Amino acid sequence: MSGFAYEIRDIGLAAVGRHRLEWADREMPVVRAIRERFSRERPLEGIRVAACVHVTAESANLARALVSGGARLIMIASNPLSTQDDVAAALVKEFQIPVFALKGEDIETYRRHIHTALETKPQVIIDDGADLVATLVREHASLVPHIIGTTEETTTGVIRLRAMAAQGVLAFPVIAVNDSRTKHLFDNRYGTGQSTWDGILRATNVLIAGKRVVVVGYGMCGRGVAMRARGLGARVIVTEVDPIRAIEAVMDGYEVMPIREAARIGDIFVTVTGNRHVLDRDHLLAMKDGAIVCNAGHFDVEINLEALREIADPPRRIREYVQEYRIRQTGHRILVLAEGRLVNLAAAEGHPPAVMDLSFANQALAVEYLVKHRGTLPPGIHVLPPDIDREIAQLKLQAMGIEIDQLTEEQRQYLASWEHGT
Ligand code: NAD
Ligand code: ADE
Repeated sequence: MSGFAYEIRDIGLAAVGRHRLEWADREMPVVRAIRERFSRERPLEGIRVAACVHVTAESANLARALVSGGARLIMIASNPLSTQDDVAAALVKEFQIPVFALKGEDIETYRRHIHTALETKPQVIIDDGADLVATLVREHASLVPHIIGTTEETTTGVIRLRAMAAQGVLAFPVIAVNDSRTKHLFDNRYGTGQSTWDGILRATNVLIAGKRVVVVGYGMCGRGVAMRARGLGARVIVTEVDPIRAIEAVMDGYEVMPIREAARIGDIFVTVTGNRHVLDRDHLLAMKDGAIVCNAGHFDVEINLEALREIADPPRRIREYVQEYRIRQTGHRILVLAEGRLVNLAAAEGHPPAVMDLSFANQALAVEYLVKHRGTLPPGIHVLPPDIDREIAQLKLQAMGIEIDQLTEEQRQYLASWEHGT
């Protein structure tokens, strides 16, 4: 059917996928406006772009914008469980975009697709979690001279890239899209806040009202998850390692305590730290019978599943995204959702399009920025200039039909002066 290679679940799902991505497009006015401008101006003409992202209806609309701008795009999954197979089919069949992504692919396939993407000798990489860039640097150094720059979607990816920069192995500019205000203040907070509960509810259909929910990590994502848990009627406990964030959680009205105490009383645990084994062996051993544990942080390292397998009988799959582990010592059953991977993308559809509109507007403009400033940006981590951040916010407000005030000349002068005091 097409003259290019791809690897997806079922091309026959394309019609369903097309409806799905067009549905998302209705809620993505900023990305749509960028797509329309890109198709007139073609700022990415002939640029080879590799995108390692969650393949969803929302990222499909980013892909359409990039291709409208003239990019030659390949798309691969940034997580083995997050691909929407129907959307992948639509991208291949209806938009002629090579996609290598299947929901439930094994780690070998996931890694093979990373190499497939790198074999196209990308000039720009869009990454979500830094696996593509890390593989480039580790295993394909000869391709680095082709790179104009890369972008990074998520907190964990930015942390890894900063570690690469500190070690002196980052030889090209990276735009930390996560660090745009129009990204982390909305996607991480309202996106993760809503879609994590969507994932938990679709996976379990449990009543949240009255439950003790433990949110591990009170960063941008943790705030959203805690806020929406409270909205559903949960009694929310926050655990933190950062004293400032812990005070914020206290003053936001949550109970704050160490995880060793929270482990004993929680009904539902959500990890959102970007850190390893924040739910460890002792915590799992201390949990009540029937405790639900899940993760919305980027990698599946937050719950110590190796320890759980050691202390429990082999798990039983009791619903599509629920595995029940019976702890031998206590007889308690621990319910792990989505194999400890991002519960919002594995068990639900990820963030809604209205919030990904902001994130992916940043991605599209970051790619354009890299190409426009080709050869002039020094290697290292950059953020998009604040005027681009504000332009995205302004476009979003306009699409929402919301007008705001402007500074008067008098106010502008006052804010720029120091003479007026008491
Ligand atoms: P953040 O840095 O703002 O917050 C993480 C918080 O976790 C920090 O406050 C940190 O102090 C805390 N923390 C670290 N170790 C801890 C421990 N042992 N116990 C308790 N708290 C601990 O990061 P963020 O933007 O909130 O992102 C969190 C994770 O979610 C990252 O992995 C990020 O990539 C990912 N993420 C996921 C989605 C999604 O769709 N599920 C969306 C955005 C970000
Ligand atoms: N990350 C979180 N939600 C997402 C979505 N809907 N699409 C792509 N990446 C995401």
